[in-house]
Amino acid sequence: MGLFPITRTTTPKPKPADDALSFGKALTDHMFLMNYDEGKGWHSPRIVPYGPISMDPATTVLHYGQAIFDGLKAFRGSDGQIRLFRAQRHAERFNTSAKIMCMPELPVDVIRQSFEALVAVDQEWVPHKPGTSLYLRPTVIATDVMLGVHPAHSYLYFLILSPVGSYYKEGVKPVKILASDTHVRAVKGGLGEAKTAANYAASLAGQRDAEAAGYTQVLYLDGVQRKFLDEVGTMNIMIRIGDEVITPPLAGTILDGVTRNSALQLMRDWGLRVSERPISIEEVMQAGRDGTLREMWGTGTAAVVSPVGTLGYKGENVVINGGETGELTQKLYDTITGIQYGRSNDPHGWTSVVPAEAA
Ligand SMILES: Cc1ncc(COP(=O)(O)O)c(C=O)c1O
Repeated sequence: MGLFPITRTTTPKPKPADDALSFGKALTDHMFLMNYDEGKGWHSPRIVPYGPISMDPATTVLHYGQAIFDGLKAFRGSDGQIRLFRAQRHAERFNTSAKIMCMPELPVDVIRQSFEALVAVDQEWVPHKPGTSLYLRPTVIATDVMLGVHPAHSYLYFLILSPVGSYYKEGVKPVKILASDTHVRAVKGGLGEAKTAANYAASLAGQRDAEAAGYTQVLYLDGVQRKFLDEVGTMNIMIRIGDEVITPPLAGTILDGVTRNSALQLMRDWGLRVSERPISIEEVMQAGRDGTLREMWGTGTAAVVSPVGTLGYKGENVVINGGETGELTQKLYDTITGIQYGRSNDPHGWTSVVPAEAA
């Protein structure tokens, strides 16, 4: 008997081939649900067959977006073990998002147990091919039924899983990004630090315009002066100028990325000069012009690192490292993926093995 009641599906779905996986399209056979009601707290954790959630049209989340989520991965190592990467930090960040969104926090141990139990139930869904993984999407939505704007008194936690393909099927590949002088993503005092639906809604128009201009991603500048770098798409940004690696500080407008934190720790371990400081787009463009801009990359769970080959701003493009992946970017990718798949040792204890019987 495990920690949570489990109702198993009687109609398991066919699993896609590892080669056919993309991001977030395939969903596994089960999901984890748990309810919150004021006065009662979080209750009724359970694993049930994956399926639609029915909602009254007046449910508050559908109108006012009181919703949080997170995203982390489980990896099947060559030793057959399934490992979660930095589950504790993701669970803690989920609660940070909850606080910002006026939602009740969840017990971190229950969040972690939900990760392990559901992955164990759907362990056959963790793909095998190198570079593939199982993406976990914990979410909380407000479920009050009423049209007034205020924090809800009832919530639903759900966790769903999606097997995902390798982000880089042909090796790490640099992208072309556009620093936007028209769209902003977040301002201090707003929601930028939370992983909440509204931030992704706020990024759609900027992304559409960047794509129309021939770029892959938007580099957002601060919302007040439109001067300092914030984030790139759904990644944190890092820049190597001369012998310094710079990344914008956690000052209220950007997500505290788990990959950002991991990359900073590794680079400090390696004795590199790493600064968390404001950096202006002008400083980056100038470094691009004078040849001191050595590397630039985004960090995030989806890609681990995403090298920037071209940076555009106000009609000017700078090409970085000849449009090739830089050596530090590649080293970070190799080191982090080595830890995730259990190929290299894990000095900071970032991975946790999912016991096959966790459910
Ligand atoms: C807006 C935003 N910034 C940064 C990140 C990178 O965070 P992490 O490294 O925890 O995936 C993400 C993705 O989760 C994101 O959505």
